[in-house]
Amino acid sequence: MSTFPSGFLWGTATSAYQIEGATTADGRGMSIWDTFADEPGRVADGHTGDPAADHYHRMPADVALMSELGLNAYRFSLAWPRVCPDGVTVNPAGLDFYDRLVDELLTHGITPSATLYHWDLPQPLEDRGGWPERETAYRFADYAGVVADRLADRVPLWTTVNEPWCAAFLGYASGVHAPGRRDPGAAVAAAHHLLLGHGLAVQAIRSRAATRVGITLNLFGVFGDADAVRRIDGLQNRLFLDPLFRGFYPADVLDDLLPYAIPVRDGDVEIIGAPMDLLGVNFYRDHAVSSAWDGSPNLDWPGSEHIGHVRRGLPVTDLGWEIRAAGLTELLVRLASEYPTVPLYVHENGACFADVVMDGAVHDHARLAYLSDHVRAAHTALAAGVDLRGYFAWSLLDNFEWSEGYGRRFGLVHVDFETQRRIVKASGEWYSEVARGNRVP
Ligand code: FCB
Repeated sequence: MSTFPSGFLWGTATSAYQIEGATTADGRGMSIWDTFADEPGRVADGHTGDPAADHYHRMPADVALMSELGLNAYRFSLAWPRVCPDGVTVNPAGLDFYDRLVDELLTHGITPSATLYHWDLPQPLEDRGGWPERETAYRFADYAGVVADRLADRVPLWTTVNEPWCAAFLGYASGVHAPGRRDPGAAVAAAHHLLLGHGLAVQAIRSRAATRVGITLNLFGVFGDADAVRRIDGLQNRLFLDPLFRGFYPADVLDDLLPYAIPVRDGDVEIIGAPMDLLGVNFYRDHAVSSAWDGSPNLDWPGSEHIGHVRRGLPVTDLGWEIRAAGLTELLVRLASEYPTVPLYVHENGACFADVVMDGAVHDHARLAYLSDHVRAAHTALAAGVDLRGYFAWSLLDNFEWSEGYGRRFGLVHVDFETQRRIVKASGEWYSEVARGNRVP
């Protein structure tokens, strides 16, 4: 029996575009994901994030469900185009939704953990150049201030940007995410401006409230031949961790990225590297890579053109992602030992498997096993001295899984997207027991 420290947060994570739907309600503006998903061929099943899980209209019932499951925390994101439809001008009705959500959570004794940016950039800002433009970082800081003015009195935990690597490289280099551009130089500039936006948003929030703020990164253990490991660890992990925690971009990664240069101006690294109160870690899998791979499509990021994924014969989820829970322990231990001490939260961890509804129940044993192994792996990290404060399962609800559409399910709660009926899966019942008992049985 592995018991967790008292006060440990047990939650689920979601993101606005993936669950809310209601993309034109109450003055919400267009985001890059509305535009992208509308273009033929961008999303596997041809759908958009509307209606998703219709959470915008079902929020009180969804919060009640979290409470019935005994969860004591919830990580959600705010849709910037709801709060500022043109990216700049405040839409009070959009902000009101998150105000109601926060109050609903608090009424149920659930700690809110808010993420300001989970990839839904207002389309008008993309029309002015998007994240490759420095201006977008300033607009993001303004938006952070608007949100903090309204919510920071009640939200104790903040994340500025979710997974800047995805927003920059999937959005602007490989183009598999919105806005779907294939321009490596733009991706490198976007990575820097997402980090700058983070640093400016930290300042904006701190100037308004004494609350805890950090960033959420998708980090990976990287395995393979030495040069491939150095490069991919550099692009995927150190390109973000080093400026955030050490105050500089790693020289070898800057070299790998040539001819694309990071558009750093005087003072930027100080803004990016200002101390944070927490780091959110999203972990799903490792990267096994090789510079002599089997010829399958390479990783398609600037600086990694000659490196590909390789298979290690491990079990995989339905997305083909390798399952190795020890990777989570190793990652948390690495962060605690190589980077300045900061409280860590697992902000996302979960698995995609196809589910079958049988007699009104979903026996998702593979997902349950994945979660159980990873929660144990988190406990092993705690036992090794890592300052881990919470675990957020991805995700509360089945949802719109970006370019995969609705066919890829990660929820602890099954959603029938026709009727919007919710069914707690076996994994959800199991997780409820863990959260209530603060231990893994
Ligand atoms: C992460 C995203 C999240 C979800 C999971 C499966 O990269 O942050 O929105 O799509 O992957």
